[in-house]
Amino acid sequence: ASQPSPLPIPDPTYSDDDEYANVDWDSLGFGLMPTDFMYVTKCSAGQNFGHGQLNRYGNIELSPSAGVLNYGQGLFEGTKAYRKENGQLLLFRPEENAIRMKIGAERMCMTAPSIDQFVDALKQTALANKRWVPPPGKGSLYLRPLLLGSGPVLGLAPAPEYTFLIYASPVRNYFKEGSAPLNLYVEEDFDRASQRGTGSVKTISNYAPVLMAQNRAKSRGFSDVLYLDSNSKKNLEEVSSCNIFIAKGKTISTPAISGTILSGITRKSVIEIGSDLGYQVEERVVAVDELTEADEVFCTGTAVGVAPVGSITYQNKRVDYKTGSGTICQELCKTILGIQTGSIEDKKGWIVEF
Ligand code: COI
Repeated sequence: ASQPSPLPIPDPTYSDDDEYANVDWDSLGFGLMPTDFMYVTKCSAGQNFGHGQLNRYGNIELSPSAGVLNYGQGLFEGTKAYRKENGQLLLFRPEENAIRMKIGAERMCMTAPSIDQFVDALKQTALANKRWVPPPGKGSLYLRPLLLGSGPVLGLAPAPEYTFLIYASPVRNYFKEGSAPLNLYVEEDFDRASQRGTGSVKTISNYAPVLMAQNRAKSRGFSDVLYLDSNSKKNLEEVSSCNIFIAKGKTISTPAISGTILSGITRKSVIEIGSDLGYQVEERVVAVDELTEADEVFCTGTAVGVAPVGSITYQNKRVDYKTGSGTICQELCKTILGIQTGSIEDKKGWIVEF
């Protein structure tokens, strides 16, 4: 009796296509707005997850000794469902999230859902909450898959049971700046990740540790912090919640995935689109000193999208960057958002329409 009783899965023929939840779609930010249903399934360690069910969104019951509560054995993902003018829903490269969760689960000694189950669960969750998917142009339904060590442990060990859950919330801009440029602060007092640690994995335990630096930066008027590598403190890594790119002339560079940087799906897509658009795209070590010479800087992430950076402050020196019309950032942002929302033809097979 640990789960709320399941409700019937809403009719997948979308007969109530025009029905929207009572939401002021023009004032969406990135705050939690609970929706109707969440997808839940459990399994014993090493077994396969069975068919999930759509339960009413609500609290879940966990043992006080659940692995996730005691030892942080948990992973999360994020992806967005967009509504097309014709009422169909779109997901962007959802199998990439599934693969990333599988890789993360191996690192964290957890049992993961299969790629098919993951993608199917995303679709089911989006459909069940369809009235919460914003109208075209007004945002998206953010889907948050969680994989939790839900079984009880006392000694440090993998949990004996895992819960795979997806909840949803309509969202628009991640940062309070909206689509205005971000002002970043290069963090030198804290590291985000260390070599051979878990920086490349979307484990929940990577995120609470960035809050202190983030709060401190925000209290000083910055949007967020940019981390350096923990060895030399000379090279860029990522921002608390997203990847970073710099542009100089026709060259776009981003820190290479080295084990400490999250392998962002937007990052990966921007690399491909940038090169299709004729830019030279480099994944390499990017020195913090290059920030002085860059024309543009931008962040990428599922929640963030492709977000312009207006300034970066490093060792008390602020450097300002080009933003707005005619920038590479804007071109990339428009292209990727166009593909995600269905207004630009998907020639890459990235979109799942349902
Ligand atoms: C996302 O971009 O979807 C993420 O998971 C980052 C999170 C900190 C909002």
